[in-house]
Amino acid sequence: MLYTENQFKRHTITSALPYANGPLHIGHLAGVYIPADIYARYLRLCQEDVVFIGGSDEHGVPITILARKEGVEPQQIVDKYHQIIKQSFEDLGISFDIYSRTSDPVHHQTAADFFKNLYEKGKFIEKTTQQYYDEQAEQFLADRYIIGTCPKCGYEQAYGDQCEACGSSLSPTELLNPKSMLSGNAPVLKETKHWFLPLDQYEDFLKKWILEGHKTDWKSNVYGQCKSWIDAGLLPRAVTRDLDWGVKLPLPNEKGKVLYVWFDAPIGYISATKIWAAQTGKKWEDYWKDKNTKLVHFIGKDNIVFHCIIFPVMLQADGNYILPDNVPANEFLNLESNKISTSKKWAVWLHEYLIDFPNQQDTLRYVLTANAPETKDNDFTWSDFQAKNNNELLAILGNYVNRIISLTHNYYQGKIPAVTELKNIDNEAIAQIAIYPELIGKNIEKYHFREALSELMNLARLGNKYLTDNEPWKVVKTDPQRVQTVMNIALQITANLAILCEPFLPFTSQKLKKMLNLGNYTWRQAGNVHLLKDAHIINEAEFLFKKIEDEVIEKQLVKLEEIKKQNQLAAYMPKPVKAECSFDTFSQIDIRVGTVLACERVPKTDKLLKFVIDDGANKRTIVSGIAKSYPKFEELVGKQVCFIANFAVRKLKNIDSEGMLLSAEDADGRLVLITPSQLVKNGVSVG
Ligand code: MF3
Ligand code: ZN
Repeated sequence: MLYTENQFKRHTITSALPYANGPLHIGHLAGVYIPADIYARYLRLCQEDVVFIGGSDEHGVPITILARKEGVEPQQIVDKYHQIIKQSFEDLGISFDIYSRTSDPVHHQTAADFFKNLYEKGKFIEKTTQQYYDEQAEQFLADRYIIGTCPKCGYEQAYGDQCEACGSSLSPTELLNPKSMLSGNAPVLKETKHWFLPLDQYEDFLKKWILEGHKTDWKSNVYGQCKSWIDAGLLPRAVTRDLDWGVKLPLPNEKGKVLYVWFDAPIGYISATKIWAAQTGKKWEDYWKDKNTKLVHFIGKDNIVFHCIIFPVMLQADGNYILPDNVPANEFLNLESNKISTSKKWAVWLHEYLIDFPNQQDTLRYVLTANAPETKDNDFTWSDFQAKNNNELLAILGNYVNRIISLTHNYYQGKIPAVTELKNIDNEAIAQIAIYPELIGKNIEKYHFREALSELMNLARLGNKYLTDNEPWKVVKTDPQRVQTVMNIALQITANLAILCEPFLPFTSQKLKKMLNLGNYTWRQAGNVHLLKDAHIINEAEFLFKKIEDEVIEKQLVKLEEIKKQNQLAAYMPKPVKAECSFDTFSQIDIRVGTVLACERVPKTDKLLKFVIDDGANKRTIVSGIAKSYPKFEELVGKQVCFIANFAVRKLKNIDSEGMLLSAEDADGRLVLITPSQLVKNGVSVG
């Protein structure tokens, strides 16, 4: 039973199927999987009939491009990442009822049948159009096989289907200066036949269903995107491609064509449900074709058009399916103020997190929920991660539980003490406890997961306050009867926390239930002080959270710094060559070789080093701003360097600098001294 008005009998919860071409990162988790998991776990605790679907999206051009790059078959790529992704979901406690994959034969059959059915009902438009073709590779260039300049923002690496810089969705022929990803050549146009879903014919349906029907219950970011798509006017959209990786077109005379990945992937939700139903003795149609089923899609904002417009049109064209009741899409999570990017490796990878922070899954779940990009893009920082763990989870929840359990063992050998007499302060606490199941539950039902989590923490804060107000550790000496009551209520709060934290912090809930020796309660059974019976025996205290030290965070930051440097190096573009310069002009500069005799830091600066150079005739002093690039500057003594010998003497920090050392500035800003490749006589010229 739910708190908000609910005419539904069951729930089909889907989470976007991640592409099996890379591991999962925190952006995926915060945007899609953690909210979906909270929702599914909560509904199960409310004893609702739920199926929670996940799986890998194993088709699409990014996968074949990666396979080509690595010189392996696409199947090898998807096998590898499907395993990694599946395992890391499991380790984080994402409670899918099934985690399937689109290379499963059941999926191929289901997707092909879906297409065939619409085809036979005449729901597609068949059109021959001109498409880009790579003559050298003898292949049509679908979607990401083509790159060029975005006509909207001028980004030069836009894909044939989308510009990642401005987010516009594109068609290949819109790109300026198109280039084939296969050969690098400019493509030619060639005729080919494809099947189009006439989205334009569904405008009235979409206006009624979304613009009128979901104006108030869909998130404004989702509604707004749908509205701008619909208002701009919809066009027929091709649902087939000239490729060989994907679900083969189920038409006997059409060779070398597959379903467009965005046609087959959402059908993956249905095929996964079929497989799950066959395993569990359920009827899959109940979850997809019964009006009493509430279908909810959890996705990121880049998937909105596919889940709110294209897939619903496919379902509507079929006519037998239900439509999503809600699509609570999230915005994006950034990492340390920069956009998360798989290709730039700018991410915190889930499988690495699980190794670096063993048994700390709930910390990540907590931080990503508290910072979820529900209404706007949000930022993940390691220092906030540390603060949330240490100052919230540990300080508010962990310490409370620990104190209560330890005191129960100290005072009562682990036996729940009976209430003696309730005072006002107790009745107030009891009245407060009673509001939490509904308060948290309603927020979850409305997809306000951050708010829900903050209310859960308020219940822990209530417990802390109750303890501080009643000070059982002091009162125990004078009024042990009173302490029994206080401890009983404090323990009941702990039991409520154990139940109500389960959707957010399932590992913590598990540990807490074990400590309390608590049975399985439903959500509705929480909210009172009768969960632990008098004289019930609890187990030893176990730590729920571990303090995260500065060194641990420092290590993660160093890792990111390293990636940033590598990206800078990879993205380095030489500056344009300067205006022409005559040899005469050049030869006015006297460049020479000398040996470093001494090198020391200039006091009170962090950039300057003072060199003494043997220039072949004399010793000369040169001050150079390269200290940051040479932390071990002592090692420069004895090295030969190049310097400009005929600059006027300059005063730097009161030192006369008699020249300038030559160095190259690397892409990451590091300065590298120029040195002859073989030993030469000091004082010789460079030219
Ligand atoms: N693989 C897609 C992405 O990562 C999501 C597919 S969702 C589905 O953006 F509905 F198509 F399965
Ligand atoms: Zn663009």
